Amino acid sequence: LPRLLTTPAEVRAALAGRGRVGLVPTMGYLHEGHATLIAQARAECDVVVVSVFVNPMQFGPTEDLAKYPRDLERDLGVAGAAGADFVFHPAAGAMYPAGFSTRVEISGVSEPLDGAARPGHFTGVATVVLKLLNIVQPTRAYFGEKDWQQLAVVRRLVSDLDLNTEIVGVPTVRASADTPHAGLALSSRNTYLSPEQQRRATVLSRALRAVQTAYAGGERDTGRLRQAGLDVLGSEPELALDYLAVVGPDLRDVPRLTDDPLNRVLVAGRLFGVRLIDNMPLGVA
Ligand code: PAJ
Repeated sequence: LPRLLTTPAEVRAALAGRGRVGLVPTMGYLHEGHATLIAQARAECDVVVVSVFVNPMQFGPTEDLAKYPRDLERDLGVAGAAGADFVFHPAAGAMYPAGFSTRVEISGVSEPLDGAARPGHFTGVATVVLKLLNIVQPTRAYFGEKDWQQLAVVRRLVSDLDLNTEIVGVPTVRASADTPHAGLALSSRNTYLSPEQQRRATVLSRALRAVQTAYAGGERDTGRLRQAGLDVLGSEPELALDYLAVVGPDLRDVPRLTDDPLNRVLVAGRLFGVRLIDNMPLGVA
C-alpha cells in the first residue's frame, strides 16, 4: 500500500531529494480512469503522489459535496495497485485553515460551459490545484481529458503563474465494449446511477460520436454538427441538458471549424438527478 500523508509538511519531508515527482490530483473514489493517470505517472516519474481531497471550494451550495462518495481504504488499494508511492489525504482544515482568504480567479477559459453552469466551480479548482502544485512541487501533474475545460483552466494557471510543472493530459477512459453501458465515460458520480441508468447515460457518448461522425463526413458548420448530437440527445426524455457545444481551440464558439487537433465537442446535463459531463475530439484519428 502507498504511504499515507496528511499534512503539507509531511509531503515536503517525504519527497525531499526524490527525483522526478509525478502528481495525480483526485477527489477519491478511484476508478480505472484515475488508475490510468497513476499508471502513466508511474511510467514517467521516479515518485508518484496521488492526492485524495474532496475540495469544498469547488462545490456550489446546492451540489453534492456532502454525499460525494468517499472510501479511503479502497482508494489506497487502487492507488497502490496502479503504482502510487504516496497518497496525500489532508483534512479540510489543513487545506483551508481559519482565516483562509485567497481565491484564484481565471477569466476567459473559465467562463463558458461549466463555468457558466457552475458559478465559482473553476475558482475552487484553480485554487486547490495551485495549492497542491505548491505543496508537492511535482515535475509533472496528470489530468484527464474527461474534464476538458478543467484541463484548459489548469494549463492557463500554470502558464500565467510561471509554475514549474509540466501538465500532462490523458485521454478519457470509458466503459468497455463488452458492458451494457459501453462508451460511458468512467466517473465517481456514476456510482449514483443504477446499472439501467448507466446504460441510458450512454446517450451522452452516443451523441458525441454522432458529432464526430458528421465531422468525419466533412461537416464543418458548428450549428449542423451540434444538431447531429441534439438528434441523439432528444431520444432521452430524462435528460436536462446544460449544454452541447462544438468549439475550436481555447473553447471558443465559432460558426465554422477549421481543422485543428484542439477542436472538441462537449456535453453536460443532469440525468436521473446526477450531473454528468463528457467530451470528444473532432478531427483526430
Ligand atoms: P476527480 O473528478 O476525482 O478527477 C481526478 C482526475 O481524474 C481529473 O484529472 C479527471 O479528469 C481524471 N478523470 C476522471 N475520470 C476520468 C476518466 N474516465 N478518464 C480519464 N481521466 C479521468 O477532477 C477532479 O477530481 C478535481 O476537480 C481535482 C482536479 C482533483 C481538483 O479538486
